[in-house]
Amino acid sequence: MKNRGYYGNYGGAFLPEILVATFDELEQAFENIKTDPGFWNDYEALMSSYSCRPTPLTFAGNLTREFGGAKIYIKREDLNHTGAHKINNVMGQGLLVQQMGKKRVIAETGAGQHGVATATMAAKFGFDCTIYMGEVDVARQRPNVFWMEQLGATVVPVKTGTRILKDAINEAFRDWVSHMDTTHYVLGTACGPHPFPEMVAYFQSIIGTEARQQILAREGCLPKRVYACVGGGSNAMGLFSGFLDDPVELVGVEAGGKGITSGQHASRLSSKEASPGIAQGYKTYFLQDDDGQMRETHSISAGLDYVGVSPILSHMQDQGTARFESATDMEVVAALKLTLRKEGIIPALESAHAFARAFKEAPSLSPEDAIIINQSGRGDKDIFTVADAVNDPKWKEFIIGKAAEYNA
Ligand SMILES: Cc1ncc(COP(=O)(O)O)c(C=O)c1O
Repeated sequence: MKNRGYYGNYGGAFLPEILVATFDELEQAFENIKTDPGFWNDYEALMSSYSCRPTPLTFAGNLTREFGGAKIYIKREDLNHTGAHKINNVMGQGLLVQQMGKKRVIAETGAGQHGVATATMAAKFGFDCTIYMGEVDVARQRPNVFWMEQLGATVVPVKTGTRILKDAINEAFRDWVSHMDTTHYVLGTACGPHPFPEMVAYFQSIIGTEARQQILAREGCLPKRVYACVGGGSNAMGLFSGFLDDPVELVGVEAGGKGITSGQHASRLSSKEASPGIAQGYKTYFLQDDDGQMRETHSISAGLDYVGVSPILSHMQDQGTARFESATDMEVVAALKLTLRKEGIIPALESAHAFARAFKEAPSLSPEDAIIINQSGRGDKDIFTVADAVNDPKWKEFIIGKAAEYNA
């Protein structure tokens, strides 16, 4: 399917001349580790001792009974160190950076999970670390910003553009152009110029490989469908990778925001409002206007409001090998509340998109069928957003009290 970074019509590497040698070096380093079985063994050993892999596949008995259709399983990426799947990619790239002999890492982050994961990796490997984050995301993900800084990273709030993830990516590229000899850009999702989409999907494939083995051991058969939320596409590609050659339906769920007709969403593949374009070094579906200007996006979850999407998923959409849907902010909060109450599990708002869609579809499947939802992360980081969404008066009181303490 791939022709040097192309997935059908999408992908590629549209680079400024100055970065070509750096990308060649990265591509070569990645080719070397792919053919070195020792590297994957080292990676798995690191992930099992540092990040609780393999993560469990949890049978959600109460949710299954609630919907009365397919058996619902949850792949627990939230139980990773730092609370999300982002660490899978980051630790893999950390090992790679070590081999390449570089000493500084930079990264972009939206929800902050990738930033925390990168800062964690940098602390463990002894790298200097700078994280670029849109000013809007800094404001809504303060706890993650706090931890990045405590871990020793410099967090740079990006004030350009719409001050969200795409702007943070632009700033990270600007930094890289000036420091490519010493620095590696740890891109956090399956987007960007080749080899990033392939490389990030490669490290995240550990999710799907484990999930396939786990469901076969538990059910003795493959799942009917698997669900994952889609920001840039890394957790979705991670889960889907395990089932690419199987008769399993792959469902990606994007941010429906305030509803597709409101125009305030980030549904690139499911809304039919996006069109192919080239930006940030690669070709994919972007939400753009007729002049090719990137549109503003909206999602209740900071990690799903990216304006582009993995070129691998764009190709899958065109080929019909995966199905893309969206879930609105309201549906997501409802799915989050239900999962909390029925299973005692707190999905990240990003992951709750996959839950919301799976809940819609589960009742129409047979009780013989199993489905897997990828819980890409845990919801602790979303406490401010969720408390606002559910309008919890005691939380408001607590915040007002804290503010009064600081002002005293
Ligand atoms: C918990 C969680 N899930 C999903 C995503 C979306 O990213 P991706 O589509 O690359 O998995 C993010 C992004 O920050 C995230 O933090």
